[in-house]
Amino acid sequence: MQAFYEIKNVIWVSDSSSLEECSILLASFDFCLGVKDADNNILGYVLKPDSDRVLKFDIKDKCIRLITSCTSKIVAFDDLSTQKHLNKILGSKVKEVVWLDDGNDSIDKLAILSKKNKLEDIYLIEEFKQVVENPVQNLFKKCSKVADANNIPIFLIGGIVRDLIIGRKSFDIDITVQGNAIDFAHLLMVQYPDTCIINSLHEDFETAKVTFLIDDNEIKVDFASTRKEAYDYPAALPRIIEIGCELYDDVIRRDFTINSMAMSLNEETFCKLIDYLGGYQDLNAKVIRVLHPVSYVDDPTRVIRALKFGMRFDCESDKSTNFLEKSCLDSGLFDGLCGKRIKSELKQTFNLNRASVFTNFVERRLYYLIEKNIIIDEVLNNLGEEAEICINDHLNYLEKIDNIWLIYLSLLIIDLDKARIADIANRLYLSVKESKIILQSCELWHKLQDLRGFESNFEIYEFLGGYCNEALVVNLIKFKGSNVVGCIELFLTELKNAKISVNGNDLIRLGLKPGPEFSRILRGILKAKINNKLKTKEDELDYINILINGEK
Ligand code: CTP
Repeated sequence: MQAFYEIKNVIWVSDSSSLEECSILLASFDFCLGVKDADNNILGYVLKPDSDRVLKFDIKDKCIRLITSCTSKIVAFDDLSTQKHLNKILGSKVKEVVWLDDGNDSIDKLAILSKKNKLEDIYLIEEFKQVVENPVQNLFKKCSKVADANNIPIFLIGGIVRDLIIGRKSFDIDITVQGNAIDFAHLLMVQYPDTCIINSLHEDFETAKVTFLIDDNEIKVDFASTRKEAYDYPAALPRIIEIGCELYDDVIRRDFTINSMAMSLNEETFCKLIDYLGGYQDLNAKVIRVLHPVSYVDDPTRVIRALKFGMRFDCESDKSTNFLEKSCLDSGLFDGLCGKRIKSELKQTFNLNRASVFTNFVERRLYYLIEKNIIIDEVLNNLGEEAEICINDHLNYLEKIDNIWLIYLSLLIIDLDKARIADIANRLYLSVKESKIILQSCELWHKLQDLRGFESNFEIYEFLGGYCNEALVVNLIKFKGSNVVGCIELFLTELKNAKISVNGNDLIRLGLKPGPEFSRILRGILKAKINNKLKTKEDELDYINILINGEK
């Protein structure tokens, strides 16, 4: 890929300068800000479009670090530097440098890697054949026919293209139409009346859900229109400002370069990769890179996505993306953030069930998006490994595998007071069941710490009986190495499902009349059984006499 460089005249500012002060300095597109820390180290730069963009939010007092890029592809130099010297630093690509003659000797310059990369022609034909099943290939060909006949560009875009390149099958089939997806769905239905059914149309977003019948397979496809979006305030849900826009505008609203690629589905360019922002190179180099420095301000949940994709694809965030992540978390802009999107990202990320996810989540301070006041100590730092092992050993006991993330979340917030935990549950839009898991985990953790020990199995049974299994697993992790672990394990594996053989009919047969006494007797039998006093049904029947006579 060929790179282009731009030269900007630089105005140096301190990293603690406010966004407002900085925007006043950035009067022209020929200038950029060079940002230095208190020790005069260069941290990075800020371009005018990003400064303008962030000032639309009501955050002008926040400091400039929030949108400072620090890519290694910038070089600061003064007027004494010759182009030859610059060539040496930047390599042969410097031929593309645009020289700006400002005539002001006192201002330094920065050479900045431009985002406009020249596109190389890459076709994903082999990847397509290998990853996409035949019926789906046929489906794409059918769409392609209709698109070509009507001169409509259609694409695969985002995660599905990324997954195709790395040979991973995507389960959702999303096709993006440069134009109007609803109109396109109608064209498909007219062309294939017997095999194409429109399930639903969403006019707000101009999207369509369609089912195709191909070779006895029912294939569901979501059609979306290309769209331009804007955020009204940091962390807001994006607002659509244009539907049917150019593909480029649909791409630049996205999060990371690896998610910003599209693949043409039109006949002539079938499988052609459209990679405006260098996603292909980043995916191969295993780099997570935000598309622009305001990305995390627009949508801070992307810092969790960076971790998720990093872990899932074994990638690392580039220097600038890391810097922006730290600045975003330091800014305090997102304290107490609400959101279904945070929940959804936490769920997907922690459900990977990897120790390294938890460790990174803590080390990179991503918990700031949930609650800033979590006390980080050695114990919490090392909990990830224990959690992964314990969860894997107890998968069968979880109500559903999708609850894994709630175990990790509980481990993070377990030392907070009940009111705080309830507030987190509220802010993350947890369901009643989900809230119960985190609240019970915390309650049990505190209760078990105050407990001296259990006198009998039945006491364990009674004590733990009201807690869900997820809360028990959380406490298995927290109490590793203590006696409590044995008690919880015993409860999970044996006591919880203990059953007695006698029932009400047996009591009637013994001449007893149904009433409240029945439950006292049956409970008494259960207690004796759990405490290992009764083995067979006969033992239980004999024991009824003892209970009737009032002995316990
Ligand atoms: N996206 C984004 N910012 C977000 C969420 C999503 O820019 N906070 C964009 C990304 O470009 C992403 C696309 O929307 O590729 C679809 O989002 P999603 O379905 O969450 O992600 P995928 O990339 O498809 O990944 P996954 O395999 O996890 O579904």
